[in-house]
Amino acid sequence: MSLLTVENLVASYGAVRVLHGIDFAVEEGQVAVVLGANGAGKTTTLRALSGMVSCKGSIRFDGTELIGRSTEDIVRRRVAHVPQGRGTISQFTVDENLQVGAYIRKDRDGVRDDMERMFRLFPRLQERRSQAAGSLSGGEQQMLAIARALMMSPKLVLFDEPSLGLAPLIVRDLFDTLRQINTELGVTMLIVEQNAQLALEIAQQAFVLETGEIVASGDPESVGKDDAVRRAYLGH
Ligand SMILES: Nc1ncnc2c1ncn2[C@@H]1O[C@H](COP(=O)(O)OP(=O)(O)O)[C@@H](O)[C@H]1O
Ligand SMILES: [Mg+2]
Repeated sequence: MSLLTVENLVASYGAVRVLHGIDFAVEEGQVAVVLGANGAGKTTTLRALSGMVSCKGSIRFDGTELIGRSTEDIVRRRVAHVPQGRGTISQFTVDENLQVGAYIRKDRDGVRDDMERMFRLFPRLQERRSQAAGSLSGGEQQMLAIARALMMSPKLVLFDEPSLGLAPLIVRDLFDTLRQINTELGVTMLIVEQNAQLALEIAQQAFVLETGEIVASGDPESVGKDDAVRRAYLGH
């Protein structure tokens, strides 16, 4: 059984329907990527999974229906969300941001071990652990946002355009880190991206969203070969 199964998901803002009944599933331990142009409904899809937008249909996660549940409840079921624009608390230090990430956990020893694990994964964060998040570079802030999400010991992490606004070399590092997190920690990931090339390289599953509908899906290689996908997202 898939860790996440989305069926006939419809999401609307007021009277305006943005997702028109989408279906997809994410397998446990895998990296899935959702490609799509601006306005396709990528952020809305992630917001629906986190209980932040009203929707209909079915979202089964780890054996439980998520539709109708609060964001708080969904977080407690170990779904972490790294929002577009990162969402770290800029006045808080790196350390404090990581502690906020672990707020749902009671296992203090586990939290301490995970802090150390994050500093091994992200040595730059260790060097800056008592610096305010707002004083970090864009790439470091994205790393902090990811580390913070991992501090809740998630089963699934939703990433909303993690590479947005970062320089090309930093983006490459970021994707290497995402791959490392997936292989070392075994965390299932759903990544929304416009950087199709790199995202397809680290994914095992790919979906293409266009104006609120899934228009292509499958393994990254075959999705990457699709003519329409190549023209729209790969530029060749
Ligand atoms: N809070 C909102 N209220 C009304 N419409 C919205 C809201 N957020 C997004 N939309 C609309 O929903 C559509 C999909 O947006 P979004 O999910 O943010 O797309 P993407 O992340 O793929 O760029 C767009 O047409 C956008 O204008
Ligand atoms: Mg978006």
